[in-house]
Amino acid sequence: MAISRTPPGPSAYIAFSKSYRDDRLGSYGQAWKTYGDLIHFKVLPGLDLYLAVHPEAVGHILNSHGQAYKKAVRASKPLSLLLGEGIVISEGETWRRQRRLMQPAFHQQSLWNVASVMTRFAQKRVEMWESYPNGSVINLVEQMQQLTLEIVGEALFSADMGENVDSFTHTFRRTTKFIDDQINTLFKFPLWVPTPQNRQFIQNRHTLNRIAMNLIRGRRQQQSTPHDLLAMIMGAQDADTGSRMSDQELLDEVMTLLVAGHETVSVTLAWAFHLLLKHPEVLSKLQHEIEIVLNDRPPNPDDYIRLPYTRMIIEETLRLFPPAWALPRETMIEDEIQGYQIPKKALVLVPAYFTHRHPEFWENPEEFNPERFTQAETSKRHKFAYYPFGGGPRICIGNQFALMEATLVLSTLAQRFHLEPASDKPVSIDPTFTLRPKNDLPMRLVRR
Ligand code: HEM
Repeated sequence: MAISRTPPGPSAYIAFSKSYRDDRLGSYGQAWKTYGDLIHFKVLPGLDLYLAVHPEAVGHILNSHGQAYKKAVRASKPLSLLLGEGIVISEGETWRRQRRLMQPAFHQQSLWNVASVMTRFAQKRVEMWESYPNGSVINLVEQMQQLTLEIVGEALFSADMGENVDSFTHTFRRTTKFIDDQINTLFKFPLWVPTPQNRQFIQNRHTLNRIAMNLIRGRRQQQSTPHDLLAMIMGAQDADTGSRMSDQELLDEVMTLLVAGHETVSVTLAWAFHLLLKHPEVLSKLQHEIEIVLNDRPPNPDDYIRLPYTRMIIEETLRLFPPAWALPRETMIEDEIQGYQIPKKALVLVPAYFTHRHPEFWENPEEFNPERFTQAETSKRHKFAYYPFGGGPRICIGNQFALMEATLVLSTLAQRFHLEPASDKPVSIDPTFTLRPKNDLPMRLVRR
């Protein structure tokens, strides 16, 4: 039997390195170029980190040897300050139960039912933009966050997020900065210590919880219950005890879905508009598809399958800017990946951002080219060369929902508006929480 070795990597502890703290993405990228597809980092004495870029290793960790890994406590603990024990965080039997319970809401038939919510809110946003003077400047990231929150609220919980949209999106952004600091800062005070940051976070969490709890209370007061995800989780009974979820459990699930269901899609849409600006040839193919398929009428749910190029733009955007750019795992037992030894309790990062640029699997990886996502091209590729939605049993439950939503929203907005950059500052990436554009993409709305 071959003797397992430790993968190559830098010798210094990265926790003490300013360049890692200031530019995680750049530093990991540099290490990938220097050391190859499986890299060992010393974080602190006693804490090791492994970056697994190669699709074979990704498939091993997320799928074929997934039982040796769990979500990394270092990342899930700070996240659970906001999401509690919701489905993104939970493990084992609790997770299996949650997943079984929610899965029907994401089946194809349910998605067709909510597609009209997507087109309706996208059209409402068009009408809102039409009410602005031509050439008005908007904050694109913020606008997409509002729109995707409206959609997820109505689609999953039949709730009009209405006047809570601004408050939720603003407050949520402040909490993500805090959570990211909790994940990446070495020394932090526990939440019960009344530092200004802790107090601010608790206040923000209270605001978000109040909005989510009102959705649950509102439903309890309704006479007739819509058949939606909220009804499924509120009606679920434990098979052994017959008991229903507590208010805290319900709150955790609602908060998890509000967060997971809007942040990722909003940054995807923002990046898509940014990439279209830089690639007029792709934009004109998009406009051509929209004209041919829609013939000047607004998109309806059935158009989703008639807009393959629009969807390919979304898929290519998710390749270059996967919102969940690195999935954190922890080994529960010692493991071996491609002949290298990975000890128990090690932190393992599976970075879609780099795998999606792997030159053995992607020609001209930095180039924005939606044609990579024709059926023929997709079927030729390694299954784990592309995983914006993760993989294996923990694959994103909302992946089809997200692709449908982003496709329908992009076509609806691009049909009526051309977006031009309203700032000449270069756009850089902010990998805090999700992979966001740093300056929020101020854009000028020009009517088409
Ligand atoms: C472009 C949009 C989206 C992206 C890129 C994305 C990405 C991901 C990824 C990578 C995971 C797996 C995380 C891991 O393995 O550690 C995940 C899980 C999850 N996503 Fe998404 N997501 C998107 C949209 C959505 C939407 C629209 C919803 C709900 C409406 C959603 C709900 C969830 C849930 C509940 C999980 C946890 C699933 C589980 O652990 O069983 N996501 N997502």
